[in-house]
Amino acid sequence: MNQHSALVDNYRRRFTYLRLSVTDVCNFRCNYCLPDGYLPDDKKSNASSCASSTGFDSLDSSNGFLSLTEIAALVKAFALSGTKKIRLTGGEATLRKDLPDIIRLCKSTPGIEQVALTSNGYRITHQLPELVDAGLDQLNLSADSLNPSTFALITGHDKLREVMAGLDLALGLGLTKVKLNVVLLRENNFDEFADFVEFVRHKPISLRFIELMQTTDNVDFFRRQHVSGQALQTYLEQNDWLQVLAEPNAGPAIEYTHPEYDGKIGLIMPYSKDFCSSCNRLRVSAEGNLHLCLFAEEGISLRPYLLNESASQLAERIQVLLLGKKATHELHEGLTGATKHLAMLGG
Ligand code: 5AD
Ligand code: SF4
Repeated sequence: MNQHSALVDNYRRRFTYLRLSVTDVCNFRCNYCLPDGYLPDDKKSNASSCASSTGFDSLDSSNGFLSLTEIAALVKAFALSGTKKIRLTGGEATLRKDLPDIIRLCKSTPGIEQVALTSNGYRITHQLPELVDAGLDQLNLSADSLNPSTFALITGHDKLREVMAGLDLALGLGLTKVKLNVVLLRENNFDEFADFVEFVRHKPISLRFIELMQTTDNVDFFRRQHVSGQALQTYLEQNDWLQVLAEPNAGPAIEYTHPEYDGKIGLIMPYSKDFCSSCNRLRVSAEGNLHLCLFAEEGISLRPYLLNESASQLAERIQVLLLGKKATHELHEGLTGATKHLAMLGG
């Protein structure tokens, strides 16, 4: 298979990182994302019954999401265009029963070097061994509080202990990168900042504070709860944390290390100046829509072409579409594109 030239946009950014959502269904009710739980739109009534029943791990392409064959075609085209890393996201990706097969196919696609997963971790200790066996390299979990009752208040589920056990298991199973996401919330966890920093003293993970992003559904919540990561950055820099250079195919975090801490601290500040200038990632929704930005408009359907075009034709199609990518999101202006909540696309 001939390698195409890498995907490049009009601003000379190179795209080597694909974030692929495999379902938009989620079983959590994070207060900033799906406060009322997953509400399907009409065309996914199937998925709703799965999400609301206890039959977790029961989703697959019969719920309207890309099938394994479609995902294989998509990943092949991206790999041909220079994509090196794939992050599988949701909704909650582990709700798909064929997730191990999806990981295996990503990992065995020539050109793909790293396969990462973002999960809310609700059952991760049960699932992880099989996922690692299938080829998973990296895991991101989330804990917006280190206090079990605050965690339950934010997510709707009393699962902090499971997430913590998942982190340790991931380290034990030898994953190359283990990360813990924390969305900063003025009213719920901002006062835990020092506890979070202390948490990584003896844990070789990367803990990432994410600034709350405004979406169409959370406008009032955002007004109340958004805190800028700027104060944290100042704190870290005044307390001997040193900024490290981003690795190739890395995500958007600014990362810091400290000689006395085993773990790292990352800051994801989408409202900061220049956040978009280092963008290296594209997104595809669970139904096969290419999103040039988390906050772009509707997304462009690739699905009709996945099983009808060669990898090479698809790669060319993606490159042409990429020329429509804008220089930056318009979050500063309060414009959130078509993004109702991040469960649509996995953050
Ligand atoms: N702002 C910031 N982060 C968000 N996430 C979900 N919604 C938002 C939002 N509005 C985070 C989740 C998870 C990651 C995938 O995205 O908490 O850590
Ligand atoms: Fe929470 Fe992620 Fe589910 Fe949204 S998609 S409710 S952020 S676990």
